[in-house]
Amino acid sequence: MIKVVIPKETAKGERRVAAIPDTVSRLIGAGCEVWVEAGSGNEAHYADSSYIDAGARVSSDKSELFANANVVVKVQAPDKEQASLLSPGAVVISMLYPAKNPEVVEVLQRNNITALALELLPRISRAQSMDVLSSQASLAGYKAMIIAADRLDKIIPMQMTAAGTLAPARVFVMGAGVAGLQAIATARRLGAIIEAFDVRSAVKDQIESLGAKFVEIPLEASEGAGGYAAEQSPEYLQRQQELLTERVAAADIVITTASIPGRAAPILVTHEMLSMMRPGSVVVDLASESGGNCEATVPGEEVSISGVTVVGITDIPSQLSVHASQTYSRNVLNLLLAMISDGKLVLDFSDELINSTCVTHQGSAHSKESASPSTSSIPGGNS
Ligand code: NAI
Repeated sequence: MIKVVIPKETAKGERRVAAIPDTVSRLIGAGCEVWVEAGSGNEAHYADSSYIDAGARVSSDKSELFANANVVVKVQAPDKEQASLLSPGAVVISMLYPAKNPEVVEVLQRNNITALALELLPRISRAQSMDVLSSQASLAGYKAMIIAADRLDKIIPMQMTAAGTLAPARVFVMGAGVAGLQAIATARRLGAIIEAFDVRSAVKDQIESLGAKFVEIPLEASEGAGGYAAEQSPEYLQRQQELLTERVAAADIVITTASIPGRAAPILVTHEMLSMMRPGSVVVDLASESGGNCEATVPGEEVSISGVTVVGITDIPSQLSVHASQTYSRNVLNLLLAMISDGKLVLDFSDELINSTCVTHQGSAHSKESASPSTSSIPGGNS
């Protein structure tokens, strides 16, 4: 039996859980034994009893929980205590961000733990159902628009009343990836007039199909490896700035989602641009965790700059803990099911999913280039 453990999230403000009762029963159906730390689902409103009903064992005794664990599934990287309780050979699946968590990665490596970082999943069609960045970004895009609508001193749709006609609100979405497109779709449902911009001109059709106008800049716009945006030249950024200033000034709501993996987010809304916005307008900056797309953003806070509210929200998935846990846990389940063969957990390093996400394996940092096309069964995973 493969022992799968769901420990409680310990990171401050994290309300999600990596497995919900539905995914627990599917794992059990696939031949796993699932252990859940007591209270793991509380913040997402999944009671311990619902895990027991799904067939899991619930325990608050950490040594019992982690003993002989084959797989540990988490949302955030394990903390140092959790990492040190794991037996050599165990597999940890979570968002890991090794550059942000070097100490934990070191403990995992020292303890011979295989760590799979979900944020490193390749953007291939087979991985779509496992893509936690997309599932969480989609929720973030929706909520960003709802927050903006709530903070705005206007209503969103056009209204023709006996007291006169109210013009619809204007929304400008900067960065039309998963989150941006969902923000556009939500703004559209609320009745806004929407414009959107992205350095990848390939998203033009998607933007237009959602009823928004694509703000075009004649350019060398490019898409980098894996569907991510590449960094742009200073000349391009200057031309971009002029047109964007106009569009930002005309908007009631600006939602920014532009990030470049591994780098600080590009500044798209400067102090000068903010000063041209109508007091009462709103900027919601979804890139605030990596520094922000708006110069005035304070991560985790809401500030008012010349009457413009700038929301530097960083914990949207936790605010939507039910649906965020539901989708996250489904992503993890899909990855785990792809790794289970004949009731055994198999680490196949010739599989892109494993090779790309593996950060530590057998006591060393996993080198993707030199990964040998080998397969290893997890010790204890086949008993
Ligand atoms: P992201 O979160 O990395 O960035 C958000 C958006 O900001 C992107 O569209 C990016 O082009 C844009 N951006 C970056 N710098 C910018 C700048 N200076 N100005 C304006 N916009 C800028 O991207 P996300 O949402 O994760 O997705 C990016 C693409 O990858 C999308 O086309 C998505 O459909 C694709 N994708 C494919 C997957 C798959 O096939 N499995 C899974 C997830 C995404």
